[in-house]
Amino acid sequence: MVELTRKIKRAVQLISNTEERRTYFGQRAAVRRPLASAWIEVSALCNLDCITCPRQGNITPDSLKLMPIEDYYKVADAVYPYIRDINLIGLGESLMHPQIDKIISYAKSKFVGVNMTSNGTIMTEKIAHKLIHSGLDSIAFSIDGGTKETFEAIRVNARFEKVKRNINRLRKVKKDLGVERPWVALGLVLMKTNVHELSDVVRLCHELGVPTLNAENVFTWTEEMERDLPLYNGMTPEQEASIEEAKQVAQELNINLELPGFVMKEPGVCSYQPHKHFVVTWEGDLRPCCNLYHPYHYVFQGQKKFAHEATQGNLLREDFETIWNKAEYVEFRKANETGVNLPEVCQDCLFSRGL
Ligand SMILES: C[S@@+](CC[C@H](N)C(=O)[O-])C[C@H]1O[C@@H](n2cnc3c(N)ncnc32)[C@H](O)[C@@H]1O
Ligand code: SF4
Ligand code: SF4
Repeated sequence: MVELTRKIKRAVQLISNTEERRTYFGQRAAVRRPLASAWIEVSALCNLDCITCPRQGNITPDSLKLMPIEDYYKVADAVYPYIRDINLIGLGESLMHPQIDKIISYAKSKFVGVNMTSNGTIMTEKIAHKLIHSGLDSIAFSIDGGTKETFEAIRVNARFEKVKRNINRLRKVKKDLGVERPWVALGLVLMKTNVHELSDVVRLCHELGVPTLNAENVFTWTEEMERDLPLYNGMTPEQEASIEEAKQVAQELNINLELPGFVMKEPGVCSYQPHKHFVVTWEGDLRPCCNLYHPYHYVFQGQKKFAHEATQGNLLREDFETIWNKAEYVEFRKANETGVNLPEVCQDCLFSRGL
């Protein structure tokens, strides 16, 4: 889950319509807000079983649900004075929320930017219209392979052709309505098992009219995952060549390919920037970052570990400033902003390691 604001900044460069650009920036400038974004888990339900996902074999409770719309309004009212964007993302699929259009339009009525990450399996013409009319600013579709075989082996229960058709459908509805938003990007969890198809995914971007591909490293929950998947534990010459080829193809096709780092550094400043962003679970719990949405088991450098519950407060019961100013949370943010006195879970996290 790379830092979304980077994607949005790039997307904003794409607003070719001068009037639309003026309205977008005018609305955002009209309200000054100190923080960048809240990531809100409006759905902790999912229709897929991706093999990389923390939902698999982790301790995520079976009772994960949708955020009730009334709770969403309360959470929204609590955080909007402080944030410029919301990112609809969590440990589920936001498009499974039946009131997703109300969720988006409520945020837009407060002049907050709204972005979403989706598995791309649910995009009927009706939903495409809803997303556009409610004012969604951007959507990133997760595509972990450039062929049916690889994609479907990783994104279990998704169909490659259908997801491609769905992305095209949104593109067509946008074209028919003559609108530029939502801007679309593709996202990819880059691993030993799909790096040979990175250039195919770049070509897919070109085919689908998508200007940006964001590749990220894989977080590992089991010993097998740590042994078999990450590229940051050392690449073969073939894997390095695949990355070079993808860069070349991206240049030729004018696709903006964002790659993560592949050399693990000493723990330092967190690239998620928890002093600018925070997450809210489907139950209204405020937690510091996308890596601490829910408690989970993980494996780092051969050691099995557990990331504990990281709730700082609950927005259905406490106001935002009370939570934000709690001494422990202030200390946590300071550690991550400076890279000094990092908690163990942060020392083990890709985002403090330049990955
Ligand atoms: C948990 S999903 C939720 C949003 C939506 N369901 C989706 O798949 O796009 C958020 C992002 O995390 C990515 N992801 C899944 N497993 C991962 C892992 N082990 N390491 C890094 N990112 C992962 C997904 O590909 C997706 O882009
Ligand atoms: S679609 Fe997203 S939330 Fe669902 S299993 Fe895949 S990565 Fe996890
Ligand atoms: S380094 Fe810490 S604060 Fe930053 S994303 Fe990782 S767990 Fe969260």
